[in-house]
Amino acid sequence: MCHKRRSRVLWHSEVTGFCMDHGKTVDYEITEFHTQRGSIRCCDSLAYMKEHMEDECCDLIFTSPPFALVRRKDYGNEKEEDYVKWFRDFGIQFHRILKTNGSLVIDIGGSWIPGQPTRSLYHFELAIMLCRDLGFHLAQEFYWWNPAKLPTPAEWVTVRRIRVKDAVNTVYWFSKSPWPRASNRRVLAPYSESMKGLLKNGYKARLRPSGHDISDKFATNNGASIPPNLLAIPNTESNSFYLRYCKDKGLKPHPARFPATLPEYFIRMLTDEGDFVFDPFAGSSVTGEVCERLKRSWLCCEILPDYVLGAMGRFSAEASSLTDRKEAESYRVPSSASLWKDDLFTDASELATDGGLNHQRRRKSRNAKTTSGKTR
Ligand SMILES: C[S@@+](CC[C@H](N)C(=O)[O-])C[C@H]1O[C@@H](n2cnc3c(N)ncnc32)[C@H](O)[C@@H]1O
Repeated sequence: MCHKRRSRVLWHSEVTGFCMDHGKTVDYEITEFHTQRGSIRCCDSLAYMKEHMEDECCDLIFTSPPFALVRRKDYGNEKEEDYVKWFRDFGIQFHRILKTNGSLVIDIGGSWIPGQPTRSLYHFELAIMLCRDLGFHLAQEFYWWNPAKLPTPAEWVTVRRIRVKDAVNTVYWFSKSPWPRASNRRVLAPYSESMKGLLKNGYKARLRPSGHDISDKFATNNGASIPPNLLAIPNTESNSFYLRYCKDKGLKPHPARFPATLPEYFIRMLTDEGDFVFDPFAGSSVTGEVCERLKRSWLCCEILPDYVLGAMGRFSAEASSLTDRKEAESYRVPSSASLWKDDLFTDASELATDGGLNHQRRRKSRNAKTTSGKTR
């Protein structure tokens, strides 16, 4: 068992009604909530790890920390320039509590430099700090593409049209040794139509232009394909049990939830039934919900009580009888070249030599000309 000692139980699922009837908050000390396989704790996970968690107790730490976003979230975000320093103490604890063959998976979004259309390097610096300073290995980086992502930041993407949609998060998979427990057989994907055709019609073994020798083993039907490190998962939950529960109880749903498929992918690939999974920035406890369903034992820490109260709804008897999974089986990424044919859209406007800097001024002067009737 990985907890050094248990704190006082202040509330359980059976008593969720007691505070919601009064609008919101009750007197929170350290609170905890238990399910059959895990628990949520309302606390600062850094303090909790230091005080209560033993060395090498976790098989997987799966989490999405607050990102260093320009636009502040309700739950607070570290500033870009302080981010790595802030994260360091968490990283030290993660390294200590992780088993030698365990994994640390961090979903982290990129960010922009305030006021200018260039990217922050904070998440690259985070990866470098974790590996160079704290001794983690980068087992692999994944990219979570959210096909439903809005075109932001609007100023650069939809107003000045000088950047494209930022629709991927990096999901870093770190490990304590170069050989963490893992199997890609747990996360196989359906064969593409072209691969199905190839399996049906046969494949001629030959050397590819890249130099890769594709032998006839390539044409063996293994039932499914080895997936790439691009995860296409829409974040479009709009009518889940969790949302209805929050609405019924007058709670604000967590504004930065990830879809259950994201933790599920890594929990399946990196842990077995009965293994212990920890999410130190748990928010609405999606990680806990997935672990409960996949029979992993788990602990979620979340510092803000309101999010914990909402999270508890995920484990009510009604919730467990429902599955909200309604995802497309696969996504097609349109070829970038598909609209280039007639230069219909692409070269219609000239590139601004100032890179879009004086966009507002140009637009104002264009509007002025239009209203005075001088524009062609
Ligand atoms: C990006 S959100 C996680 C959302 C979560 N993955 C979900 O799907 O609901 C990060 C969360 O970390 C919490 N948090 C920030 N610092 C914390 C700390 N020291 N201990 C515990 N939770 C913390 C924030 O309140 C926030 O809810």
